[in-house]
Amino acid sequence: MADTLSADALDIIFREARSYNGWLDKPVSDEQIHAIYELLKMAPTSANMQPARIVWVKSDEAKQQLADCAMEGNRDKILTAPVTAIIGYDIDFHEELPWLFPHTDAKSWFEGDEEGRKEGAFRNSSLQGAYLMIAARALGLDCGPMSGFDNAAVDKAFFGDDPKHRSNFICAIGHGDPKSIFDRSPRPDFDTFNRIA
Ligand SMILES: Cc1cc2nc3c(=O)[nH]c(=O)nc-3n(C[C@H](O)[C@H](O)[C@H](O)COP(=O)(O)O)c2cc1C
Repeated sequence: MADTLSADALDIIFREARSYNGWLDKPVSDEQIHAIYELLKMAPTSANMQPARIVWVKSDEAKQQLADCAMEGNRDKILTAPVTAIIGYDIDFHEELPWLFPHTDAKSWFEGDEEGRKEGAFRNSSLQGAYLMIAARALGLDCGPMSGFDNAAVDKAFFGDDPKHRSNFICAIGHGDPKSIFDRSPRPDFDTFNRIA
């Protein structure tokens, strides 16, 4: 059984973590990028499908390419962040299931069902994007998730316009500039959107 995290750890991952709009001039190393992935890959996906295909945009050229696909208000965030992860997904994730879920023939569940695969890939890559943010925060980094960009343009630029690979959302990662955040928006009490049935 898992132990409970300390209050400090919960603050880092949830209570004090914010979505940053600006970044301090402090790099993120390739080792840190790998460390984020080594954690996020351990979190659950349906049938261990692992549909996320992540491009870690780090070079000046790739940043400019990504910024050119983004809404005006998101461009500087991408250009100034040490790295921005494009969380994409593979609609043909089922081709990998023979080794990712070896104890049964899970590939056959998805063959001939492209709509079902799209739904599964989108749902599970969204989860993997959330795991990425939690992992980055747990490793002392900050995040700035964004969906304000032209998905088709990003797919073309970073997934070679392969119709089986699509972008979900992007997430800037670095050391957030505290001056770049707004006041915390309200969070609903339990009773507002929950019930225990
Ligand atoms: C999937 C997703 C997409 C988002 N897209 C944008 C975006 O395009 N531009 C932006 O400035 N913020 C974007 N945000 C940031 C949200 O507005 C922010 O996470 C939310 O207001 C909570 O802020 P807080 O984490 O600082 O409390 C996005 C967040 C998520 C999770």
